Amino acid sequence: MFTFDDYKKSADAIRKITGDIDIALVLGSGLGKIAEMLENPVKLRFEDVPNLPPSTVMGHAGEFVCGTLHGKRVLIQSGRFHYYEGNSFEQSAYAVRLFKLLGARTLILTNAAGGINRTFSAGTIMMITDHIKFFDESPLRGPNIGEFGPRFNDMSYVYSKRLRWLSKGTAARLGIPLKEGVYAFMPGPSFETPAEIRALGILGADAVGMSTVAEAITAAHAGLELLAFSCISNLAAGLLDQPLSHDEVMEAAKLVEKDLTALLDAVIKEI
Ligand code: HPA
Repeated sequence: MFTFDDYKKSADAIRKITGDIDIALVLGSGLGKIAEMLENPVKLRFEDVPNLPPSTVMGHAGEFVCGTLHGKRVLIQSGRFHYYEGNSFEQSAYAVRLFKLLGARTLILTNAAGGINRTFSAGTIMMITDHIKFFDESPLRGPNIGEFGPRFNDMSYVYSKRLRWLSKGTAARLGIPLKEGVYAFMPGPSFETPAEIRALGILGADAVGMSTVAEAITAAHAGLELLAFSCISNLAAGLLDQPLSHDEVMEAAKLVEKDLTALLDAVIKEI
């Protein structure tokens, strides 16, 4: 378990390179291109930040890129720390508290996810309205770090209504199709079984994935305004009579990268 001093030390190491920031953005599998939008970018590898494990997943760069976009200081985390890699939830969400210490008010999360809602297909962008996480501990389990937030934090408004309205309007203006729905966390690394997907659908999930929720809980605790998007890379197990693969996830990410980049760029301008 980490202490406030651990977080402070890590944040100081990033601040030396980036200075303070306004917005943090975490990019999921195959979505790294968005980092190229930044003006005057500076980079920092995960290994160069104390307490961060290196990223081990194919398609994840494993670095922070910080630069200016529409006059705002934006820090992009390209690659993330998944639970299935052996990280605790606290480790998975470690960087979120660093964003807070660096001065960010807004966090944007992106991920690749399997579609459960039958109106979705590979290439759908789903804005997350809420989430379901039934498995394992909370990233906040253990002594509360009061500098970040209260022991029992509210989870009624994790995904900012204001930013969702703004994103909906922006997507409509740009002609980018945007769906909305509930994201269910599953621990992975196996994809789910068809029976698990049927059960998640009954419980109210529209998409399923192996990331994002630990970060979202940590962001809610720290009072960050949060916006999150899933790129539907495949229909979840059992919806089609065919197996799932990580290659498929990477292929579909390429389909949505252009639209999602344009949407994020326009939303960041408005925030
Ligand atoms: N399940 C879980 N995680 C995923 C999937 C899926 O079908 N697709 C991309 N990430």
